[in-house]
Amino acid sequence: MSTSRLETVVVLAAGEGTRMKSSTPKVLHPIAGRSLLGHVLNAVDALSPSHVRIVVGAGRESVEAHIKEIAPTAHTVFQERRGGTGHATQLALAGMEIAGTILILAGDTPMLTSESLSQLLEVHHAGDFTASVMTAEHPDPTGYGRIVRADDGSLLRIVEERDADDMEKAIYEINSGVYAFDAQKLMGAIGKLSTDNSQGELYLTDVIEILRNEGGSIAAVLIEDFIETLGINDRVQLAECAALLRDRINEDFMRAGITIVDPTTTWIDATASIENDVTIYPGSAILGTTTIASGASIGPRTTLDSCTVLEGASVIESLCIEATIGKKAVVGPYSYLRKDASLGTGSKVGAFVEMKNATLGDGSKVPHLSYVGDATIGQETNIGAATIFVNYDGVDKHHTTVGDHVRVGSDSMLVAPVTIGDGAYTAAGSVITEDVPAGAMGVARGKQRNVLGWVMRKRAGTKSADAASRHNADEKKG
Ligand code: UD1
Ligand code: CA
Repeated sequence: MSTSRLETVVVLAAGEGTRMKSSTPKVLHPIAGRSLLGHVLNAVDALSPSHVRIVVGAGRESVEAHIKEIAPTAHTVFQERRGGTGHATQLALAGMEIAGTILILAGDTPMLTSESLSQLLEVHHAGDFTASVMTAEHPDPTGYGRIVRADDGSLLRIVEERDADDMEKAIYEINSGVYAFDAQKLMGAIGKLSTDNSQGELYLTDVIEILRNEGGSIAAVLIEDFIETLGINDRVQLAECAALLRDRINEDFMRAGITIVDPTTTWIDATASIENDVTIYPGSAILGTTTIASGASIGPRTTLDSCTVLEGASVIESLCIEATIGKKAVVGPYSYLRKDASLGTGSKVGAFVEMKNATLGDGSKVPHLSYVGDATIGQETNIGAATIFVNYDGVDKHHTTVGDHVRVGSDSMLVAPVTIGDGAYTAAGSVITEDVPAGAMGVARGKQRNVLGWVMRKRAGTKSADAASRHNADEKKG
């Protein structure tokens, strides 16, 4: 049977996450480019449920604002005080139209895949079960609820670590906290929970035994990879899961034909997309909505955040944020491309160049030590070393336009607003405050004057004066 009967998904995300020791609610902590909650909702999204309900509590305002952004159609339900997973579920179900299958999971399990959720739903629907619990064999089950099976292997009940006896603690099969329920049956049983446990909370896990006693059929669906069930409670687990996600993402890309020279130092967000035959060198991070086209080469030690990199481009030892890097363009080493830097085909931005809100035409070059802000540069133009686009008058930003085949001399200041026409030149060291017409040479600097013999007179006895004297004497001898 298909998953088409999945009506509702409930995500429990009201917990405080005390062990994170953070002013940020636990489910908003990011790894691999998404919040923990974002990873869970992303996995859920692939199942196309009719309704998503998220129980929020701690940090309600920021969690709700985040949900509005990433899952605007989801409903939030407020749990004012922590009453346990059973209590949170009661609140989520209140006033709900009851039909079909309901999937319940926690907001702090970012490793879950939609494949495993689908697998759970398939078993649940195929066997027409009342409830199905996703379980895993965990090498260190400490802290998790344990799966207690009857002699015939069927699921008897779930016992929490704190309420477990020694025999039960020795069980390695754990409750993942992911469940599929027949919504109507769950509705009937959820009110029967009691707080008769070590924490005095309503445990959602107890509903399993209640349903079984009422004659319901229960499935325990053991998934292969326990890593998917890892939940995050502190920053150590946050880092562990981040590394595991990194490995998973890198592996997927390598299998899709991307060369990752050193996967342990390459961090790619789940939201990035990369075509085959891209090579990524060590120490690089590919973040946000970055897309990289075939044949590009990234790194070493390069960060791309929400950039577009076209075919065959190469970026070396650089930081680029919301920039577009054209076909076969070359960036770096040590360059900083900021928002709306846009590089044309075959263009070059060399060492120690900062660029923002600027378009560099096809085949144009800014090879060394320059700042290019608020500018349009034409094709096949060369910007000499240490040129500054002086875009800011202290109050407002102004635009500079540079034409095609221009040669801007080294150490020019182009004081915006200003236009350098097609084929024009500027003399090195010029402070250009007025437009330079096409084909003209703009010169704007003091004329040089040499004060002959100054060093011998004013710095007599220094090594400079001696060297100059020797040179002059040699010249006289011929
Ligand atoms: C829960 C399960 C345990 C399972 C484990 C898997 C129960 C009683 N135990 O334990 O069997 O092995 O998950 O990770 O369900 N929450 C609320 N409101 C509350 C309490 C919790 O929204 O009043 C949310 C939390 O934010 C969290 C989720 O429910 O996302 C699970 O709660 P948590 O306290 O982490 O339960 P565990 O002790 O991990
Ligand atoms: Ca947990």
